[in-house]
Order: sequence, then C-alpha cells, then structure tokens
Amino acid sequence: MSDKLSDFPITFHGRQYAPLMVGGMGVNISTAEMALAVEKVGGIAHLSDALLMEVADKRFGTDLCKEKIRRYKDLADTYDKSPIHFDLDRLAEATRHYVSDVMSRKTGKGLIFINCMEKLTMNAGSETLKTRLNAALDGGIDGITLSAGLHMSSMKLMQDNPRFREALIGIIVSSTRALQIFMKRAVAVGRLPDYIVVEGPLAGGHLGFGDDWAEYNLEDIVRDVLKWLEDNGFKIPVFAAGGIFTAQEAVHFVRDVGAAGVQVATRFAVTVESGLPEAVKKHYIDAKDEDVEVNHFSTTGYPMRMLKDSPAIASDIRPNCEAYGYLLQKGQCSYLKEWFARHGKLDITPIPEHSKCCLCTHMRNYKVWTCGASVSRLKTVTKRLPDGSWQLPTSEEVWRDYVLTECA
Ligand SMILES: Cc1cc2nc3c(=O)[nH]c(=O)nc-3n(C[C@H](O)[C@H](O)[C@H](O)COP(=O)(O)O)c2cc1C
Repeated sequence: MSDKLSDFPITFHGRQYAPLMVGGMGVNISTAEMALAVEKVGGIAHLSDALLMEVADKRFGTDLCKEKIRRYKDLADTYDKSPIHFDLDRLAEATRHYVSDVMSRKTGKGLIFINCMEKLTMNAGSETLKTRLNAALDGGIDGITLSAGLHMSSMKLMQDNPRFREALIGIIVSSTRALQIFMKRAVAVGRLPDYIVVEGPLAGGHLGFGDDWAEYNLEDIVRDVLKWLEDNGFKIPVFAAGGIFTAQEAVHFVRDVGAAGVQVATRFAVTVESGLPEAVKKHYIDAKDEDVEVNHFSTTGYPMRMLKDSPAIASDIRPNCEAYGYLLQKGQCSYLKEWFARHGKLDITPIPEHSKCCLCTHMRNYKVWTCGASVSRLKTVTKRLPDGSWQLPTSEEVWRDYVLTECA
C-alpha cells in the first residue's frame, strides 16, 4: 500500500488543502514570492512579520526606517534605549500595505498566513503586538500563526477586530504545558485556535526548549499534545514541525502518529524564492552535521540553531536600535549591555564576555544562518549540475515533492 500526503487533506472553512504548511522564516526568508508560489498550487504558506517596516521599505521604496533613525539618531551613544518607540500608525500602515499587497496577488487556490513572534517586544510589547496582529487581519491575511512566546494576551488583543472569527488563528508550542497556558486564555476569550503547531527540538530558528533540547522528541510531544486535547474534549488539528525532511516522514506523522499535518521550513530556505542570498543558500546545501550548533547568541533568551560560521557570531558591530530595536524591552537588550561594557561606555565589572549578537541587524542582513537540524540532508535532495554547482529547486517543486510523492 502506498500513500501520499495529499491523501490526508486538512479542511479549513469547508475547503480541503494538502496538510503541509510552509513555516514562517524571518527576516524575509519566507518571502511574498515563496508564499505566492505555494499558494498558487493550492498550498498553505507563511509570510513573517519580523522587521516588517524594514521589509516594506525595501519592497515599496518607503522611508519608515530612515524616519525612525532620524528621530532617534542622537541616542546612538546612550545605553538606555527606553525613549525609542515605534510609531504605531506607521507600523500598522507597513503591515497592512505589505499583507494586502500579497493577498491581492493570490489565486484563491491556497492560503497565506503570517507568523507573528511575541518575542519581538519592540520596546512596548503589548501595544506593538496588538498593532501587528490587527493590521495583519485588516490587510486580509488568511491566518495568523502566533509564535515565539506564550501569547497569553494575543487572542484578547484581536478580539475587537471584525475578522477575529473569520481569519484562522494558530499557535506554535513545544510542550503540552505551553499549550495549556495558551488554551486557558483562549477559552476565557471564547475563541479557540483553529490549529496548533507542535514544534520539536530539531526545528530551525529559535527553540522552545532549554539546553536539554536533545532529550526531547517531536513524536512524543505530538502524542502528548494529542492526548491532552482528546482528554479535554478539544478537536483542533495539530501540525508537527521540526526535522520532517521527506514526504515519507511527513506521511508517518499524519498516518501513524495522528497529526493533522506538518509544518516544514529548512527545505524551503534554499528554494529559488527564498530571501536568503544565493551564496548562503549554497552554503546551507554544503553544510555537514558538524557545521551546525544550538547556541545562545540570540538576545531573545531562547536557544537558536544556526551554522557555526554564521558571520553574526564573531561580529562586534555597534547596536543599531535606532534603526531596528525590535528586541528592546524597557530600553534594554542583552547585546546592548555587553557591547557598551566592552567598549568602555558602561561601567560594570567584570566586563561581560562576547556571548550575544546584534540579532536585529544580523537577521536583517542575512548574517545569522539559522537552519533546522536536517540542513545537512539538503545535498541529498538537491540536483548537482555538471559544473559541480547546485541547482536550486523552486518552492513549487519542494512542495510537490512533499505532497505528491508516493510513500510506503
Ligand atoms: C531559516 C529559518 C528561519 C525561521 N524563522 C522563524 C521565525 O521567524 N519564526 C518562527 O516562528 N519560526 C521560524 N522558523 C521555524 C520554522 O517556521 C519551522 O517551524 C521549522 O523550522 C520546521 O522545521 P524544519 O526546518 O526542520 O522543516 C525558521 C526556520 C528556518 C529554517
């Protein structure tokens, strides 16, 4: 007997889709072009709203970041960045503009969601999150995936939006415990999530685990979440994510483990439509297992998986909060503290070691090469040309490979 992923469709709003979501990859790695390429073949794909003012400026030639720099440039030498604030009207405008532009180019065959990370605290966590979520809904997004945080208030922050019950809303969790916390709040607001993504320890980006991440196993967590949902009478589709590299592995999660679908990313990070620079895509494909590490160079407090030679790791650049500042919380970010101390601008002893990187700047410049644990397998599914170079696949090709390959 053989099965393919498309034999197990997921139903949203009465329509069936192949049970595969392309995960959000910030900053602008899961581009509009990638989402549209997958949508065109009837698939589900994510945009990311990370550093969206910057992304919108590049796309539409606007000056939102320049304006912010102009307003705050005098703070460059000041350690306390608490006066830096995002103009919420401009943030909403950029998000709406970006989302509505992409949505206007949909064919209507698939779905386009946006990934919203709570950890982008933007020096005013609640207000900026509220603005981002509501602007994405106003821009006509099909769905919002809440990630990188517990999102205890996110449902509440959206509840007055006219599209609150129409758009799909999902949450990424890495444990049943995190899901329980979110569900308690969702029940209180009277709006349950439409899907849950369970992200295991082999995923790319930030991990929802501590340094003991290797002791966890995606399949066990998915089974545990499914049991808790069933025991509590919730019928919500669960997508498994992290390290699902082949159609066979995807079918296993849906057919044998009981997931409704899978979310994948690493294979799409090296597609033609991915926002990563070409040389970085090729570097990912060449990567070996020993080139990958989970480290603490991210200032979010979460561990992050990346290639060991990511240029961000050794970089000592001046913090660039005046332009970005997406990770500021009460005027602070852990990179700021160590950079100011190392450069004699802050009097603390002992002087902290270089243990963090300027995540905003380096993600923006594609210098943090984050990837899933399966990155070393990319070479096994990528075509080598006669001259020895790699032929990058299109997003449609990777999507078809996951969804349409017959599996044992
Ligand atoms: C390059 C890259 C960037 C990512 N960025 C984000 C992000 O901004 N927000 C997020 O919630 N997840 C992010 N992820 C996680 C993915 O959305 C996805 O859940 C996970 O990587 C799936 O595992 P896989 O990469 O092994 O297929 C990222 C993953 C990769 C590979």
